[in-house]
Amino acid sequence: MKSTIVSAVLASLLLVQQSVAHPGQSAAEAQAEIRERAEYMSKAAPHKRSLAHCAAKLKARNLDAARRAAKVEALREKRAITQNKPFLRARDFEDVLNTDHHSNLTVTPESDPSELFTGNASCILTPETTEGPYWVQGELIRQDIVDGEAGVPMTLDVQVVDVNTCEPVPQVFTEIWHCNSTGVYGGVVANGNGNTDDEANLDNTMLRGVQLTDKDGVVSFDTLFPGHYTGRATHIHVMTHVGAQQLPNNTVAGGNITHVGQIFFDQDLITLAEQQEPYLTNTQTLTTNADDFIMAEEAENVDPVVDYVLLGDDISQGIFAWIAFGMDATANQSVTPAVYYTENGGVKNPNGVSGPPGGAAPSGFMPSGAMPSGTAIPSAALESS
Ligand SMILES: *[C@@H]1O[C@H](CO)[C@@H](O)[C@H](O)[C@H]1NC(C)=O
Ligand SMILES: *[C@@H]1O[C@H](CO)[C@@H](O)[C@H](O)[C@H]1NC(C)=O
Ligand SMILES: *[C@@H]1O[C@H](CO)[C@@H](O)[C@H](O)[C@H]1NC(C)=O
Ligand SMILES: *[C@@H]1O[C@H](CO)[C@@H](O)[C@H](O)[C@H]1NC(C)=O
Ligand SMILES: *[C@@H]1O[C@H](CO)[C@@H](O)[C@H](O)[C@H]1NC(C)=O
Ligand SMILES: *[C@@H]1O[C@H](CO)[C@@H](O)[C@H](O)[C@H]1NC(C)=O
Repeated sequence: MKSTIVSAVLASLLLVQQSVAHPGQSAAEAQAEIRERAEYMSKAAPHKRSLAHCAAKLKARNLDAARRAAKVEALREKRAITQNKPFLRARDFEDVLNTDHHSNLTVTPESDPSELFTGNASCILTPETTEGPYWVQGELIRQDIVDGEAGVPMTLDVQVVDVNTCEPVPQVFTEIWHCNSTGVYGGVVANGNGNTDDEANLDNTMLRGVQLTDKDGVVSFDTLFPGHYTGRATHIHVMTHVGAQQLPNNTVAGGNITHVGQIFFDQDLITLAEQQEPYLTNTQTLTTNADDFIMAEEAENVDPVVDYVLLGDDISQGIFAWIAFGMDATANQSVTPAVYYTENGGVKNPNGVSGPPGGAAPSGFMPSGAMPSGTAIPSAALESS
């Protein structure tokens, strides 16, 4: 059941935020996206809305902490960053809509790194259905998704946990995609997403990739810290494919889409990154976490913000970030790709939502109060063709 407080917050955000939610997305599509989430959440069983019931089980699994500590050391070695440098900061927060939730924990070289990584099962995403309009089907299986783009290096560990069993899920293809340092998604040509005359961007695979989770249910991507674009807080999209097959050309096909979500970053970390080149050259409007309606809704039940440490003295030497999220292995979400990535490059989905902003807000949409169950969802935003 949605709380009326959050509904009211969303309603007020809607009033001030009639701009695009994703590049090229109209206010009507943004509202459809919110409604779609609300609809899902109102129907989901409590244990599918958060992983709070898994806390004890997840906490008992200290193996993850050791694995992450080892990962940080390996990354520092790879980037020739002195091993005995202190971890500069760890974050910890109670209210994800509160933008001032950095830990003031003092961490020294003597600190046990595993302490930094002992989670409280807080960083768990809710299964939901917001792929946004910019999903490209058929992206490559690969760990490094940078493709030569400039920005702050970031290694992102994502752990997939089954909401029904509270166990990590090995062997699930997990996909991420996000915009570059100046707020443009590769793979999509659409109004609001960079230069619409740049058709070459359709073939651009930057900052998109798929990997199979390991025995601990983890995938690790080498990417960049995302930039921002008008209308949305800085975020990364995540999707899981259960039972999908790896094709000979290193892409995946088939299976069920069991989770679609977005992960977010601490506002202080965003501020640090935005002070670097080429983030500084981004002329799009920055939306803070506090003003992001998708984040507000995710944060109703869970903490969708990554934990992180800086690998070196300042952010330019890189970030190691990690998050676990819940996936309902029995689900099969219906999502519509904006573009198909093929052997001939990107091919626009004529039924996708990558086009220019759509029509007026659907009649009957009530931005305040509880979402009526059974509310119809505009087909352009949701359904497969
Ligand atoms: C950390 O912050 C809390 C609350 O603001 C404060 O009470 C505490 O003294 C701080 N700890 C340190 C080590 O500064
Ligand atoms: C874990 O989170 C819960 C809920 O926020 C809190 O009550 C509890 O004190 C936390 N436990 C630890 C060990 O931080
Ligand atoms: C981000 O991607 C767009 C599209 O490829 C490109 O035009 C822009 O230059 C990129 N930003 C940077 C900083 O390279
Ligand atoms: C996909 O979902 C359907 C139900 O929608 C289920 O019957 C099937 O077993 C699932 N496939 C896999 C590989 O999990
Ligand atoms: C899962 O959903 C997709 C998209 O709606 C559909 O094409 C596929 O047939 C479904 N799979 C199963 C096993 O129901
Ligand atoms: C990979 O193979 C599939 C199946 O033949 C094909 O549809 C797809 O276009 C190929 N993708 C790439 C990037 O080559």
